Amino acid sequence: MNREEAFQRIQFLREELDKHNQLYYVLNQPQISDYEYDILMNELIGLESEYSEYFDIHSPSQRVGSDLNQEFKQVEHRYPMLSLGNTYSEEELRDFDFRIRKSLGEDFEYVCELKYDGAAISLLYENGELSRAVTRGDGEKGDDVTSNVRTIRSIPLRLKTREHPDVFEIRGEIILPREGFLRMNREREERGELLFANPRNAASGTLKLQNSSLVAKRPLDCMFYSLHGKKLPYNNHYDNLKAASAWGFKVSEHIRKIGNIHSVITYIEEIGKSRHELPFEIDGIVIKVNDYSFQEKLGFTAKSPRWAISYKYKAEQAATKLLSVDFQVGRTGAVTPVANLQPVLLAGTRVKRASLHNADQISLLDLRIGDTVFVEKGGEIIPKITGVDLSFRSDGSKPFEYITHCPDCGSLLRRDEGEARHYCPNEYVCRTQMKGKIEHFVSRKAMDINMAEATVDLFFSTGLVRDPGDLYSLKKEDLVGLERFAERSAENLIQSIRESLKRPYSRVLFALGIRYIGETVARKLAMAFTSIDDIISSDPETLMEVDEIGERIALSLSEYFSRKESLQLIEKLRQAGLNFRQDSSHQSINQGKLSGLNIVISGVFTRFSREALKETIEKNGGKILSAVSGNTDLLIAGENMGPAKLGKAKSLNVRIISEEELLALLE
Ligand code: IVH
Repeated sequence: MNREEAFQRIQFLREELDKHNQLYYVLNQPQISDYEYDILMNELIGLESEYSEYFDIHSPSQRVGSDLNQEFKQVEHRYPMLSLGNTYSEEELRDFDFRIRKSLGEDFEYVCELKYDGAAISLLYENGELSRAVTRGDGEKGDDVTSNVRTIRSIPLRLKTREHPDVFEIRGEIILPREGFLRMNREREERGELLFANPRNAASGTLKLQNSSLVAKRPLDCMFYSLHGKKLPYNNHYDNLKAASAWGFKVSEHIRKIGNIHSVITYIEEIGKSRHELPFEIDGIVIKVNDYSFQEKLGFTAKSPRWAISYKYKAEQAATKLLSVDFQVGRTGAVTPVANLQPVLLAGTRVKRASLHNADQISLLDLRIGDTVFVEKGGEIIPKITGVDLSFRSDGSKPFEYITHCPDCGSLLRRDEGEARHYCPNEYVCRTQMKGKIEHFVSRKAMDINMAEATVDLFFSTGLVRDPGDLYSLKKEDLVGLERFAERSAENLIQSIRESLKRPYSRVLFALGIRYIGETVARKLAMAFTSIDDIISSDPETLMEVDEIGERIALSLSEYFSRKESLQLIEKLRQAGLNFRQDSSHQSINQGKLSGLNIVISGVFTRFSREALKETIEKNGGKILSAVSGNTDLLIAGENMGPAKLGKAKSLNVRIISEEELLALLE
């Protein structure tokens, strides 16, 4: 392919990918599979990196974001971003309508639309290309978050038609649809990260991330609600929004032109009934006067337009009785209070439990057992208690006393400075924590022992296994005859436990279940310290010299290793044969055969499991990357590897080897 042909192909691929983005993310009518999309995208990325002179910031390939951290520049809005006055009742709406009719003195139309619950954004398009994206900020100035916004697939980077004005701004709300939000929180939970309270927080938090490649991984979307510019096609809001929809922007199909306030109220009621079926959260309806000349005539107050108002739905609420509060103890000892309620119907589901977060929230609400409480379901997954109906409080009720001792083991609870939660420090006595630690130890990402939660339960309650070290002295005879265990299943479990002895040092560190030591931190520690004894003998300052180890983690490690029970457990595991040091190939990591090489693995392997392959590569000094890029030195190709990855690696001249060749290389 010569340069000219490459350019033609690049242009073609960009157009195709833009078209499929639009079909998938805006119109919800995909025409090709994800796989076919990836093939086109990978070809484009390959060509763009080979012919870097054709770089274009508006290319669909740029939606993956960048790893570079950015500081946001403050930008002044060309048109201030105002807020809306709120109403909560039909009466207030009728007042709004009365004021408008009085001022205008002639017939007019309203436009009703959804009030999206996310973060406001203003996009500037110049000559059909997205040139700037700015957050609302204080309404006068906002943050330039263009590189983050470029990663949102439903936002056009370049418009397809020519009918739009040369320069215009379009405003909308960046949102996180419910499904993406739940998925993101599930993944965060698995990784032991803090959960987002609701989609709005998640959307606005994501928009402010400094690393746009992280933004690209979050399923953000954007719904548009207004156009601004000197040469808009129409002189009214509704037609302009419809035009924007034709240019490729996502505009809700629920937008309606409505002639009178009575029908506006009917619209509000109808959407109110079905709003939980929408794929995203809304917190109300926005009512706008349609005609721009009428809008001008009505003007603005200091903060908001007189020609628009929002009607906010009340968060669905129910009143019920607080029966009791349970306290749950997690694997690391954190205590969570949970309210038990008299079952009540709320937003279509029967609610009998509500989250209470922590002690501060309980005292802030002055909650008392027997109180009639209000439960609300906002964007949160679990309903929350938002208040107490004091008129129902019984005379004899007493202020709620938060527990001082662990409900499980009776130890005095601790609450560290700056921490919202209490926790039980007695991890070697507290049964819930002990059992939780065994569950974590055997889990797939830790020692990967094939053992169900019910089995851990059984072994723990019969006293067969009290800590992870006991697993390694189990014998087949101990198991046969136990509930669910026959000869064969007992053998399998013993074999799986034996297999786990092969797990490398970093996995063993993670498996110990030390507070704040997730998989990544465990890997970093295993790289930085030859053996666990080096970690044990390091003070927090030395630990903090390691990349990604901050004070919180360092103190947690020091505390863990200061306990004799921890040291005894480590000794027991060491005696059983677990790895507590880098193996010899790891020690010479800098001289490893793959030292300094960026490696991508792809396909199915016969000689290794994927995990084992990754470990072998890392042990030999290689670094695993998830995707082929200009940075990749080596691609280990398994069977059934995707042709796109292979094509891309070839186009980038990446060396490609099989797993046999890798083995030969390492020998
Ligand atoms: S119009 C001057 N329309 O609500 C009118 N705003 O308080 C400006 N919002 O932060 C806004 N959905 O981001 C308008 N359909 C909609 C909206 C909407 C959500 C947000 C907007 C702003 C806030 C206004």
